[in-house]
Amino acid sequence: MQTKISFENLAGIQTELLAVFATDTQTAKGPDAKPQPILLTNDEKVRSAATGLLTSGEYKAGPNETVLLHSPAGLAAKRLLIVGLGKKSKSTVHAVRNAAGTAVRYTKPRAIRELTIGVPEAVAESGVTLAAEASARAVAEGAFVGNFDADTYRSERKDVSVQSLTVAAPARADQSTIRAAFNEGVVIGESQNFTRTLVNEPGNKLTPTVLGERAAQMASEVGLKSEVHSTDKLHELKMGAFWSVSQGSAEPPALIVLKYEPEGVTDGPVLGLVGKGITFDTGGISIKPADNMEKMKYDMAGGAAMIGAMRAIALLKPKVRVIGIVCAAENMPDGKAQKPGDVQTAMSGKTIEIINTDAEGRLVLADGISYARSLGATHLIDAATLTGACVVALGMINGGAFSNDDATFEKFQSALATSGEKFWRMPLADEYYDMIRSDIGDIKNTGGRWGGAITAAEFLHAFAEDTPWIHLDIAGLAWIEENKPFIAKGPSGVGVRSILEWVRSYEK
Ligand code: BES
Ligand code: MN
Ligand code: ZN
Repeated sequence: MQTKISFENLAGIQTELLAVFATDTQTAKGPDAKPQPILLTNDEKVRSAATGLLTSGEYKAGPNETVLLHSPAGLAAKRLLIVGLGKKSKSTVHAVRNAAGTAVRYTKPRAIRELTIGVPEAVAESGVTLAAEASARAVAEGAFVGNFDADTYRSERKDVSVQSLTVAAPARADQSTIRAAFNEGVVIGESQNFTRTLVNEPGNKLTPTVLGERAAQMASEVGLKSEVHSTDKLHELKMGAFWSVSQGSAEPPALIVLKYEPEGVTDGPVLGLVGKGITFDTGGISIKPADNMEKMKYDMAGGAAMIGAMRAIALLKPKVRVIGIVCAAENMPDGKAQKPGDVQTAMSGKTIEIINTDAEGRLVLADGISYARSLGATHLIDAATLTGACVVALGMINGGAFSNDDATFEKFQSALATSGEKFWRMPLADEYYDMIRSDIGDIKNTGGRWGGAITAAEFLHAFAEDTPWIHLDIAGLAWIEENKPFIAKGPSGVGVRSILEWVRSYEK
């Protein structure tokens, strides 16, 4: 999608469709409380074009509620689309991000290839004040996210997308800061979509090797260093846990390493981003039931989130060193596959008793975490579609977050306030670790049914040890089951925005 930014008056912009946002200022409740929507623009012509509609009581500016006016009086635009942000207390920058996505998804299937979105302005009587910079950024993010659909392999209706977006910001002195914020939003939205493209690929198209190629290709485009290793390197590094997952597959594993080393930064933290990259999870010998097994093509979503985050980092250039590691493998049953009861020796030297070969994510991550530490990572974050138990606990609304360090977690919490993604902190404790002690070796790879997301996190904790670390379980968030007004069903690209913001919080 082509983008440009305009500081012209909204009324004068020639465009197929002009989208503006509205907030609901009605505070009274009950059947007689007529909605009181207010447009978030001070452009008098736009406001008067919409007056009749807004006073009619038909439209209440609910979240992502849309209404379209053709040939709006006094405007150069052919159509005026009003998108609701919801109640004024809910009309945040996160609502703006979604509403921008809604505007694009409204436009997309209607053979309109170009639109203009007005950045919300502070309008006195609305009671809503949104910073123009943050809003311009959110509009860009939401618009790119909204323009993505998962229909890559359909023969027809391909490339039905919006080609050109103009973002119209209020004319003011510091246009350059708005422009910068907007450009940042474009990078973030595109990076999230890059992740979604990877997650959407089926297991036959995106093997560990292909994931490595895609990551390396991206790295060369944005100026990251990259290395993609396979079986020999796993053996050399003694990554017995990672290897044990891939040993039953005809597809070789890929150890993907992306390095971001900003010029002049030779001290301070080194952030290690570690992603689970299971390109297909059958469960292995502890094979999964057939129902919904096709979904397990998205079991590399954590790895893809790290690759997308590294792309955004390379382009936004924070002054902090970052290493991205993705442990990619296919988990298959086979004559060579690992079996329940097998004992594996991880890179750290710990021995792992395999109870269930379907608990494979933690095995590849264990060695990924050890490798990140061996490369000098001082702080770690991992992301993984790790447990069904996490989905049972939090549904498909919040991801699970775990950390061994409060200060590190607080930085992540602040990152969430910017990204708008939802993660809920879950506990770690020695008593949970006791649930995964093995009789034959150091640790076993499952702890039974209860607290399954937590015992999985404790397993990873045993490899992060006391390096400050955050674990994100995105099993419930990586795939969106139903279309929403602002995002298509399919891969969500969750994690990219929050991980990026967390990284930026370490900037020198
Ligand atoms: N990839 C799955 C977890 C998953 C479940 C992701 C649902 C997305 C949606 C993971 O490898 C797995 O199979 N976990 C097992 C662990 C169990 C055997 C201890 C699970 O959650 O059932
Ligand atoms: Mn599994
Ligand atoms: Zn898995």
